[in-house]
Amino acid sequence: MVRVTVPATTANIGPGFDCLGIALSLYNAIEVEETDQGLIIEVEGRDREKIETNENNLIYQSMLKTFERVDYRPKGLKIKQYNNIPMARGLGSSAACIVGGVVAANKLAGNPLKKDEVLQIAVEIEGHPDNVTPALLGGVVVSHHEKGKTNYVRFPVKEVLNFIVAIPETELSTKASRGVLPQTVPFKDAVANVGKSSLLVAALMSGELDKISSALEDRLHQPYRISLMDSLNNIFIEAGKKGINQLFLSGAGPSIVYLTWDQGEKEKEEQFYQLVASMPEEWNIKVLKGD
Ligand code: HSE
Repeated sequence: MVRVTVPATTANIGPGFDCLGIALSLYNAIEVEETDQGLIIEVEGRDREKIETNENNLIYQSMLKTFERVDYRPKGLKIKQYNNIPMARGLGSSAACIVGGVVAANKLAGNPLKKDEVLQIAVEIEGHPDNVTPALLGGVVVSHHEKGKTNYVRFPVKEVLNFIVAIPETELSTKASRGVLPQTVPFKDAVANVGKSSLLVAALMSGELDKISSALEDRLHQPYRISLMDSLNNIFIEAGKKGINQLFLSGAGPSIVYLTWDQGEKEKEEQFYQLVASMPEEWNIKVLKGD
């Protein structure tokens, strides 16, 4: 039997659309063993009623793709999925299944693939690298996928950082959230994102946390996405009025991350909690660390 633990991830981090991601201290686990009884999939934990337990299961699909790549043919499989990462909330639940499936399949097959080969298969399945790279490698990862290859640089998440994650009851699929993005953007918006994204990575690396709040602004995806949900839009508008600037949409949304640190502005954190609680829809808060 093999056991794999995979973290949730938050992608984009504001301006780093499709290239920045951070692993968070919230985990799914997968146990897999070979059987001679076909396919058995059991799910425990959060959202279990929404997870398919047949051949469409994403962990199983990711395992199949890996077995094909390494020419390994198990007789049958028993997969047990322990699910803690909320689905369709922008916290990398799909990436966790994909990475978990590819890693578990590689282990069952006797580890024929190196880490970077595991990564390539996972990125191919997901279609973009910014969740799967931190899900596999941990830490903050800057990644870019081109011509079938993912280039990345990984560095650790500073201990002092806290990720206050607000998660709504409402789901939003990545497909729908990518569907509202424009085909082209104004040149000045692209320039702003290049500057802020570069500044953000440098600040996360160097620990110059006072540079982070202005670096989190995004003009490529958030403005188009937040209007998909009233309460999401309202939180961003009202937070802006209160000077709470360290917010970003987690991945494709709809969860929001308030990035703060141990000596950060506690009053603003309190205001953020109150703002989220004042929304008509239910939002849950989890305070996570980087992984
Ligand atoms: N970078 C991706 C997006 C993350 O924003 O669509 C979602 O998985």
